[in-house]
Amino acid sequence: MQWSQEEEERAKDKAAENSLVKVQLEDQDKYEKEASKYWNEFYKTHKNNFFKDRNWLFLEFPEILPEKKREQLKTEEKSSESIKINSTSCFPHQDFPGMLEEGEEYWKNNYGEDSTSVQGQIYNKKQAKSVTDNPQGKNCREQLGELESFPGSGAAYRVLEVGCGAGNSVFPILKVLCNTPGTFLYCCDFASGAVELVKSHSSYNSAWCFAFVHDVCDDALPYPFPDEILDVILLVFVLSAIHPDRMQRVVNRLAKLLKPGGMLLFRDYGRYDTSQLRFRKGHCLSENFYVRGDGTRVYFFTKDEVWNMFNLAGLTEVQNLVDRRLQVNRKKKVKMQRVWIQSKFRKPLLLSLSSPEETTKRHPYG
Ligand SMILES: C[S@@+](CC[C@H](N)C(=O)[O-])C[C@H]1O[C@@H](n2cnc3c(N)ncnc32)[C@H](O)[C@@H]1O
Repeated sequence: MQWSQEEEERAKDKAAENSLVKVQLEDQDKYEKEASKYWNEFYKTHKNNFFKDRNWLFLEFPEILPEKKREQLKTEEKSSESIKINSTSCFPHQDFPGMLEEGEEYWKNNYGEDSTSVQGQIYNKKQAKSVTDNPQGKNCREQLGELESFPGSGAAYRVLEVGCGAGNSVFPILKVLCNTPGTFLYCCDFASGAVELVKSHSSYNSAWCFAFVHDVCDDALPYPFPDEILDVILLVFVLSAIHPDRMQRVVNRLAKLLKPGGMLLFRDYGRYDTSQLRFRKGHCLSENFYVRGDGTRVYFFTKDEVWNMFNLAGLTEVQNLVDRRLQVNRKKKVKMQRVWIQSKFRKPLLLSLSSPEETTKRHPYG
């Protein structure tokens, strides 16, 4: 749907109003330093019942699959056109049930409330890092040394999902990749509780997938595989959870992991989405960046910001759009104007052999 100028202005005013009062710097610091703790608490509370499976993934991002598999699925789909596509299939119904809800019921009630007290076990960043799937406490590099290779080294087509949470994208992807020889899926999250949920799921299969605890903001932390081996990186509602000042470095580092020709697929909250306008005063951290009542944070992007960020990381636009939809909850008689940004950026195939200054300009992550 399109917004009228009036609607746009109204949304702008609402956002300006709810960001008049900023969260105190001391508290801002706490939300940054303890970000993984808040997400851990989130998964402790909700387990894997919060987000719906992202069954729309292959419709919006067919690039997740190798070309050959895509063609095969297209042919299969054509030959069974009469079969109704339901929410458990790879190609869901057009109204994207999982995408529209985003667990808003819970967060809606957490926008204006005071932060919930954190109960139970508290993880700090250091602890979260050490809670990997390797209880002896060996780091990924040591593990790799022992294996003389790395997880997924035998695959030809590799996908990484960053900020995988409880696996709502992982399992729809695995369902297809498990029938696609030569493919491998990595997924990571800095909330160790989320990674545990993924690994203990009945559909988790270590022959096709490697889930690991990883904070993408920690530059010093190595990935459990070398650079330039990924065909696809998936960023679904994860960059918005990261402090805007840190996003560029995160994207630069991720771009290094892509093979030349590899794709970065992005979907996240857009500027003036209903969930931004619903925040009450006192939840704004900085322009368009808010903290929810449970301590998790969310940023609302414009498509130009997204373009700049990926472009600065040396990636080229394939798609970059604003997806506006009217979401209607008939039962509760509420209408919500949803705004998402959806983008696809490719790593260029060839690095320029021109002067080093020029190369740095075009590929600052290099
Ligand atoms: C809104 S959830 C989305 C989860 C999942 N991508 C999905 O679509 O269902 C954001 C996820 O990003 C993870 N996250 C936030 N900051 C992160 C960081 N610095 N490193 C790794 N994961 C992070 C959180 O733990 C959380 O699981």
